[in-house]
Amino acid sequence: MSSTQPSKMNLPSVLLVLGVAAVAAPHGAVAAECQNQETGITLSPGFCATVFADNLGHVRQMTVSSDNVVYANTWSGRYYHNDTPPAGGFLLALKDTSGSGKADVVKRFGPDKAAGAAGGTGIALYNGALYAELNDKIVSYARAQGEIVPAGQPKTVLSGMPLTGDHPMHPFAIDAKGNLFVDLGSATNACQDDNRMPLSPGHNPCTELETRAGIWRYDANKAGQTFSAAARYATGIRNGEGFGFDKAGRLFVTQHGRDQLSQNWPKLYSVDQGVELPAEELLELKQGGDYGWPECYYDQSQKKLVLAPEYGGDGGKTVGVCADKEGPVAAFPGHWAPNDLLIYTGTQFPEPYRDGAFIAFHGSWNRAPRAQAGYNVVFQPMSDGKAAGDYVVFADGFAGAHKDPGRAAFRPSGLAMGPDGALYISDDVHGRIWRVTYRGDAATARVAAAPAPAAASGAAGAALPPEGTHADAGRATPDLPVPPDATKDQVALGDRIFHGEADNGTCSGCHGSDAKGTSVGPDLTNGIWVWGDGSLGAITKTVTDGVPRPRNYTGVMPPKGGAQLSDADVAAVSAYVWAIGHTK
Ligand code: HEC
Repeated sequence: MSSTQPSKMNLPSVLLVLGVAAVAAPHGAVAAECQNQETGITLSPGFCATVFADNLGHVRQMTVSSDNVVYANTWSGRYYHNDTPPAGGFLLALKDTSGSGKADVVKRFGPDKAAGAAGGTGIALYNGALYAELNDKIVSYARAQGEIVPAGQPKTVLSGMPLTGDHPMHPFAIDAKGNLFVDLGSATNACQDDNRMPLSPGHNPCTELETRAGIWRYDANKAGQTFSAAARYATGIRNGEGFGFDKAGRLFVTQHGRDQLSQNWPKLYSVDQGVELPAEELLELKQGGDYGWPECYYDQSQKKLVLAPEYGGDGGKTVGVCADKEGPVAAFPGHWAPNDLLIYTGTQFPEPYRDGAFIAFHGSWNRAPRAQAGYNVVFQPMSDGKAAGDYVVFADGFAGAHKDPGRAAFRPSGLAMGPDGALYISDDVHGRIWRVTYRGDAATARVAAAPAPAAASGAAGAALPPEGTHADAGRATPDLPVPPDATKDQVALGDRIFHGEADNGTCSGCHGSDAKGTSVGPDLTNGIWVWGDGSLGAITKTVTDGVPRPRNYTGVMPPKGGAQLSDADVAAVSAYVWAIGHTK
């Protein structure tokens, strides 16, 4: 990242430019006065945040009207353990009428759960109307300038979008001409015969591509359209959640790279390759473009698309058909999960940030047995639609003490810009929205990383703690019951395997480091067993075989969690799971 780090300040010239008042508070000091601390996040130098609103439910994407109303969509369902959404509709209208940086008007609207609604992710404004994803539909509300909650009934613009499989969300964007581009994420990880199972080959051809893993185009001005294979605009995009237009009208989309290279293909990929590969991508969307999924993935270390193991790939050497697919504009570390994108077209932020891309990374689960990562907002400098230098972490600290999908305090999920150029960041754990403004000196502004948050300073790089860098390193093994026919040592070893500290166990990635469950794996501590009777024998069988057809989750558990565990390892980790399930 050296090219985008601030150069050592040349003090005399800085003094000259800043003048006396600014010298008393150069931009770093201004940022320090922002009290970002109470917001739970750190930001690049010169930027300040307020908590705009909080505890709103599972807030996904946002959009801001020209008269400064922030609209957000919220979601519910399986992905959030079917928890109870806040009472009222799934759409939110928020406004700060006093200029305090906090919304004093917070209204819910649209159909609620009792009316059969489950909410959604996508939301956008076009031609004075508000468009929102709702279940399998995109609906639109006419809206008058000054109106906070649209008074009229919604019109259905598009219906019949699939809600099954690994990626049931439908973010979208609308261009100035009314083209509505909607993301249909893939139903599977890599179009395998047996989703996410070891050595399972890819369907050839991958017929899933007819209705999934691409971008479809509809007309925002037309009511009553029905989703079909016919309107596909671009293909091979596994899940393109974040859309952003630049000033020239180019449309960019983020791409969630596939999972489980090493867990499904251990002879071809090392554990660390499975952790780091493939890249998350920023793509420029082109009509008819094929971005490679499922035959190809982007290897950021080789800077090219290579053939996936499900389609004859040999661990990243052969390119094959991938030579003809579209590569990314910029690439990011594996499994960070880019949930939203904003190309900064405002003027409040200083020059180096203009026209660049902000990307909200929801955070990983598939970096086990290594520490999870992401859970931040990145800034990627751009110029004329191309990457112009390396990215920096712009906002950090969202996860708090635990970078773990089940325990993260907050997970970035949406980005939007207000008419004044303020940046809004949303979270889908508690439903917090931050409002970020620039308070530093524009003349000396540089693209620079946010300081490491206090809770994660060890993991962020400088001085490594002696016990290692894993989020749970140094954790004491609690006093747990020991199952009949097992030993205390087995439970202790199982604890370390579960947390990726021994034998590359992956369990905590999906079940959470506290084993209380995440969006991709269930709670193992509540004494409720879906598979078997909770006996050590039944648990051992589940761990050995995995769960190819989960009852309550879309993503499967591969045998042994995808790790190369010995029989002794399986016995130990099963004893540990028995122990944590029998503490109540
Ligand atoms: C890729 C994600 C993933 C990984 C990695 C993973 N699991 Fe699972 N696990 C799941 C899912 C999904 C289920 C099935 C839930 C369902 O059927 O609704 C499950 C189910 C289970 C169950 C059965 C729970 C019940 O209710 O009967 C046990 C026990 C279990 N996992 C233990 C482990 C252990 C031990 C490891 C590590 C060796 C592990 N899992 C790794 C996702 C995962």
